[in-house]
Amino acid sequence: MGKKQRLDKILSNMGYGSRKDIKRVIRDGRVEVNNRIVMDNSLKIDPYVDRITLDNMRIQYREHIYLMLNKPKGVVSSTNDPMNRTVLDLVDIEYLIFKPFPVGRLDKDTEGLLLLTNDGQLAHELLSPKKGVHKTYYAKVNGTVDDSHRELFSDGISLDDGYRTLPAELKIFESNLFSEVELTIREGKFHQVKRMFQAIGMEVMYLKRISMGELKLDETLELGEYRELTEEEIALLKEKR
Ligand code: URA
Repeated sequence: MGKKQRLDKILSNMGYGSRKDIKRVIRDGRVEVNNRIVMDNSLKIDPYVDRITLDNMRIQYREHIYLMLNKPKGVVSSTNDPMNRTVLDLVDIEYLIFKPFPVGRLDKDTEGLLLLTNDGQLAHELLSPKKGVHKTYYAKVNGTVDDSHRELFSDGISLDDGYRTLPAELKIFESNLFSEVELTIREGKFHQVKRMFQAIGMEVMYLKRISMGELKLDETLELGEYRELTEEEIALLKEKR
């Protein structure tokens, strides 16, 4: 059970048009509530309980959506960009009507986990420096990463602008001319992972985010694919508030 809201507001919040458009749609007799045509756009109903249809199609009310995208290279994680494809170009209209936005940014050449939602409160909390939500990246770098680097990262390292990073956890999988690592950070400075490796004289050749807080990238998603979070995943993200 939710709280009662105006019918026109519910439909317009769900992206079915402006309040003016909705008023017309209702006056045209296209909307039914509990199997009765409604003519009054200001009718107050409980969208979680009352059955709404538009042109005989059931409207399943929800306020928030949560999508996990496996971001490919070459798309930017902003909501509009005149020069580049954005992550929203990968999302179907059935979700775009909820006006999702990416939670944080991945560079154009970074792949992996990007959460898209219209839940501003959750996004704010996940990005808040105070909460220190951890993010884990898989990276291939051109250099031999060893235990000394692991210690440097766990102590905190100075970036090109003098900023000293918080302790970060480095796992080394392959240590050779090129190395394969996983790095977990608890902050999100601009190009942070790339700049941390720059600070030890290495360049990140490939970068993929594999987790954010308790949310892990679903590896069955192909690059460019997305899916809704499960109830459990949403609960995990909200749990640590
Ligand atoms: N750090 C980076 O350098 N790039 C990203 O896309 C994310 C973290």
